[in-house]
Amino acid sequence: MSFIQVDGLVKIYRPKGSDPVRALDGVDLSVNQGTVRALLGPNGAGKTTMVKALTTLIKPDAGHATIDGIDVVHDAGRIRPIIGVSGQYAAVDENLTGFENLDMVGRLYHLGAQASRRRAQELINAFGLTEAQNRPVKGFSGGMRRRIDLAGAIFSRPPVLFLDEPTTGLDPRSRLGMWDVITTLVSEGTTVFLTTQYLEEADRLADDISVIDGGKLIAEGTADELKAQIGGQQIELTLMDAADGAVAGEILQRHGEAEPHVGGDGRELSVGVREGPLALERVLGELNAAGIRLHDAGMRRPTLDDVFLKLTGHSAGAEDEDDAGAEEGS
Ligand SMILES: Nc1ncnc2c1ncn2[C@@H]1O[C@H](COP(=O)(O)OP(=O)(O)OP(=O)(O)O)[C@@H](O)[C@H]1O
Ligand SMILES: [Mg+2]
Repeated sequence: MSFIQVDGLVKIYRPKGSDPVRALDGVDLSVNQGTVRALLGPNGAGKTTMVKALTTLIKPDAGHATIDGIDVVHDAGRIRPIIGVSGQYAAVDENLTGFENLDMVGRLYHLGAQASRRRAQELINAFGLTEAQNRPVKGFSGGMRRRIDLAGAIFSRPPVLFLDEPTTGLDPRSRLGMWDVITTLVSEGTTVFLTTQYLEEADRLADDISVIDGGKLIAEGTADELKAQIGGQQIELTLMDAADGAVAGEILQRHGEAEPHVGGDGRELSVGVREGPLALERVLGELNAAGIRLHDAGMRRPTLDDVFLKLTGHSAGAEDEDDAGAEEGS
């Protein structure tokens, strides 16, 4: 049995007055000790539901999950001391300072005043919040809040850490900072289960990736294994004129390994190919012969986004804009 073992987990929400939602629809996964598992999926995929089930915040309707052999439903009281959780929305007290927020966590763990203050200071310093520590959190940026929340989650040095979208909404620099913090924790032996909508994040942090959509696991593997699923390279074209899309698509299809994908306003086309340089040369020759003018053309290695597109027919995070910042009722 793996360190974290999930078998056939099902969670059905039954909102009053509307249809039941199968937020988790029979998910299996296993995580080895000391590794990082990313649960990757778009809005509504079931990521937070999985984190809540594993951290004893909700009860699954069916299936089974254990952490270090301890059942998360029947033995929740023994799970809580060994896990740390940083939820999707930073749980901080706005009116307390950064330092006071962490000190309070120590008191909740009955750590004693001195030990609690010492640990709070250690984490404040480690997370680069020394300057800001005596300011109320309501004046903190999103990245600073996330760091305080994560510091609270690891206060008691739990062997297992759950991070629900640890970098959503952070600017690129704060995101890099958060990745460094997580990488350090992992190098110290912490097992991490994180959710993300960012393919790059899963690629960068995780040993193994589970891709989830509509409550179902749709793929699993290392970043390289997932990338290998869609084969060689991608040819990408941007046309000057969307009216050339049909002919260009037909040319790409002939040289590609799968159906070409059309994006943007119909001017952007891409397709996976086996022998990249040769295929690109031929595609460009045929486009030229057909009198199709290009704004841009190139070749690149597949990203995890391509994998997602291939697996689900839609790109990861495609609905980002729709409900950014909207908290789903929970
Ligand atoms: N308390 C709830 N009551 C009813 N439905 C819910 C509840 N919480 C979640 N859901 C539904 O369950 C599904 C999965 O939601 P979940 O929050 O797990 O998704 P997610 O992958 O975390 O999405 P996001 O990226 O937006 O955070 C969604 O359809 C959501 O609307
Ligand atoms: Mg979520």
